[in-house]
Amino acid sequence: MRKEDSYLPGYLLGESYTVTREDFGDDFHWGVASCAFQTEGSPTSDGKGVSIWDRFTTKKRAILNGDKANYACDFYNLYRDDIQRINYLNFKAFRTSIAWTRILPTGRGLINTKGLDYYDRMIDFCLKCDVDPWLTLYHWDLPQALQDRGGWKNRDIISWFSDYVDKVTRKYGDRVKNWMVLNEPLVFTALGYLLGIHAPGLRGLSNFFPAVHHATMCQAAGGKIIRSNVKHSYIGTTFSCAPTFPYKETVRSLNAAKRADVVLNRLYIEPVLGMGYPSEDFKLLQGIESYMKAGDDLLLPFDFDFIGIQNYTREVITFSITQPYGWMKQVRACDRRVPVTEMGWEVYPPSIYLALKQFSNYEGVKAIIVTENGAAFKDTIENGKVYDKQRQSFIMENLEQIWRAKKEGVNVKGYFCWTLLDNFEWAEGFKPRFGLIHVNHKTQERIIKESGYWFKDFLSN
Ligand code: FCB
Repeated sequence: MRKEDSYLPGYLLGESYTVTREDFGDDFHWGVASCAFQTEGSPTSDGKGVSIWDRFTTKKRAILNGDKANYACDFYNLYRDDIQRINYLNFKAFRTSIAWTRILPTGRGLINTKGLDYYDRMIDFCLKCDVDPWLTLYHWDLPQALQDRGGWKNRDIISWFSDYVDKVTRKYGDRVKNWMVLNEPLVFTALGYLLGIHAPGLRGLSNFFPAVHHATMCQAAGGKIIRSNVKHSYIGTTFSCAPTFPYKETVRSLNAAKRADVVLNRLYIEPVLGMGYPSEDFKLLQGIESYMKAGDDLLLPFDFDFIGIQNYTREVITFSITQPYGWMKQVRACDRRVPVTEMGWEVYPPSIYLALKQFSNYEGVKAIIVTENGAAFKDTIENGKVYDKQRQSFIMENLEQIWRAKKEGVNVKGYFCWTLLDNFEWAEGFKPRFGLIHVNHKTQERIIKESGYWFKDFLSN
């Protein structure tokens, strides 16, 4: 690994920080990010249908400790208190998602008005609290009824998704202006359709390739529908990203890191920008093209107002002949003996700077918003207080790196911290705690962590 890459986080060095809210300017959006499935609970309330995550969490050994999201943070019932907390912490924006199965229990057909009413109330309450709602249309909880018809593998998803987006944006578009079409399409297609560790638990390239193409088609289709339904809309979509580094300075390692970069950072953004799939640089991905129909290349691009990037760490990659997909392998942070979070992800704040630089280099990216960034650490509760210096330091160092990119001319317009509440972290269950607010998932008691108070102070005035 290159020398300059050894990075020690500030909390180990006792560093102090200088960046302030004012440095980011008055038009910078400050928010917290969240998601329906991870927080709402109430999986069957008011006519909600079953999603692939409702189903997946019932599978043996799919989720750490067999955790279930039936209650999660009970946000479905407690949203008023939690939205007030967002306002109390001085955040002006709240990013969350809509559960497709609350609106259309079987994914298509008749609307469930009670589900529609829930988001109506939630949106109105945000506005009442001076918190701007930013809504993601798809954060991984596909209706199970659509999965039974192939889910993201089935090309019909383009019309199912379009119909859902049309209904939702017609309904809320008068009050909600900020929309994101998909949350991290790479993660839900790779973990859900290639590696089988997220819902719906499918494996193999013959599942992954069509899912990628249909998700990319839906991304553009969704953007167009929002633009025609919502006046004065601000439209984005969100991408997971992780700068890739070669483990060694060998040609094989360098090339493996480049292939990883194609998958982790380029696969979803390039077709949106009219560049097509980056399969020239990673031939294996040519398999996606066999799912393209005549004229699809014209339907893939969409002129998003902003690109949401979500970054938590970097990846160090090595060549490995034993890996079936592209002869590349991640060198885990624990094997490199670097500081890690509770997820086992390396603490490496410069990665957000590098990601911002990389994404802003594309012509056609008008603005970037960091739609997720944060860290899971073990929290200690003492006398009713939660001390989480590591999280605070992680966030501050990431903000410094964002500011560095901004000073160098990157048009970064916002930061959404992942996340407000300790919530259901997918296959990892409740173990990793990412929240600015501690949640006791048995009693639903909340305690604002030190990092939450620190953010309140940072955002004050
Ligand atoms: C992102 C997801 C989000 C959350 C964070 C930790 O990949 O979008 O739901 O799980 O990771």
